Amino acid sequence: MGRIITVASGKGGVGKTTFVSNFVASLSKLGKSVVAVDGNLTTPNLGLHLGVPLYPKTLQDVLSGDARLKQALYQHELGFSIMPADISLRRLTKVTASDLISVLYKLADGFEFVIVDAAAGLGREALAAIDAADELITITNPEMPAMVEALKLGRISEKTDTKNLGVVVNRYKKEKGVPTPDEIKSFLDMEIIGIVPEDSKVRQALAKKQPIVHANPRAASAKKFREIASIIAGLKERQDAKIRIPEHSPIFSWLKK
Ligand SMILES: Nc1ncnc2c1ncn2[C@@H]1O[C@H](COP(=O)(O)OP(=O)(O)O)[C@@H](O)[C@H]1O
Ligand SMILES: [Mg+2]
Repeated sequence: MGRIITVASGKGGVGKTTFVSNFVASLSKLGKSVVAVDGNLTTPNLGLHLGVPLYPKTLQDVLSGDARLKQALYQHELGFSIMPADISLRRLTKVTASDLISVLYKLADGFEFVIVDAAAGLGREALAAIDAADELITITNPEMPAMVEALKLGRISEKTDTKNLGVVVNRYKKEKGVPTPDEIKSFLDMEIIGIVPEDSKVRQALAKKQPIVHANPRAASAKKFREIASIIAGLKERQDAKIRIPEHSPIFSWLKK
């Protein structure tokens, strides 16, 4: 079974879809099989970020039983798959967690990572995506309104029994009035998985409909996106993780006494 990870943000516009497209491209580059699902059914935009042409079958078709899973899977040139959502207004579906769960579980049978770009906020769609997932990554900006909403997501994940992997602080810029990483961490009381800098090249990549890890792999933000993917894939330790002593170390058995 693959890992189902929902990417959510309390506040819209913080860079959730930017994160998802770079996260899936990075995981794919690490050799993982990945599918990105646009769980933002009312205002989908994952396909727009990744240059997916208008796709005949979408998640809505799968949810309503009008398409089989494979018909709604789009293969991206960077190696991952995408299940787009319908961008037209004709197909507004009231999605429930149980509808989504069955689709996500089927995907997790065939992929190592199922990454869901959730709707912003704490509405029905977002909650369904969090409830349906095994794990949650929260995206925030270093501003109070976004962080307050991120805090709520942490609480929700406890209720839905979704493992909270922590928070990605996006568009960080060290300047007066912006809280320090330590202040953010203590405010949110969550692990910080990574801090992605404000980077004008992100918008240039978006204009090309490419993730920045592909369009400009040496950009500061691209490095961070890749590092976060390695951490989540278990290939790299979190920077702020506690010091871990290797199990073969003699001190390990001594400490466990
Ligand atoms: N690290 C960053 N630096 C600069 N601009 C960014 C960064 N991350 C995202 N953006 C810009 O912010 C805007 C919103 O991003 P988007 O991913 O669509 O947000 P959301 O999915 O949360 O609504 C986009 O124009 C995007 O290019
Ligand atoms: Mg978005």
